[in-house]
Amino acid sequence: MKVLILNGPNLNLTGERETKLYGTLSFEHYLEELKKRFPCIDIDYDQSNVEGELINKMQEANFEYNAIILNAGAYTHTSIAMGDTVKAIEIPVIEVHISNVFAREDYRHTSFIAPNCIGSVSGFGLDSYRLALAYFRK
Ligand code: DQA
Repeated sequence: MKVLILNGPNLNLTGERETKLYGTLSFEHYLEELKKRFPCIDIDYDQSNVEGELINKMQEANFEYNAIILNAGAYTHTSIAMGDTVKAIEIPVIEVHISNVFAREDYRHTSFIAPNCIGSVSGFGLDSYRLALAYFRK
């Protein structure tokens, strides 16, 4: 089982930015914990701040991975193109968010990604990624 964790804009700053919302741990550190917890899953990680790059990475992942765990950051709420990509590819995608987007501003309540995902996990801090990965350990 090969899973790509793909993070969108500003998630490279996790651990430093808005720490009350996103925590003080960097994603790279958390990733090491995740890999130890899921030795049976081959986990790769990528991040981009650029919408088109994220789309390219998802299209490529369609041929290389069994699933994608996607935190599209703010593109979640704006990108019809990324929603279309999730629809276009054949591998399952789970949407994740570190913060509870439904407890935040109204504009974060809309996701162009969610309707084309198998499910969404939001609000559990970095553990949202662990909960999403657990789905594939069945
Ligand atoms: C986020 C939530 C988004 O609304 C926000 O733009 C982010 C991070 C999260 O993980 O909680 O950049 O995706």
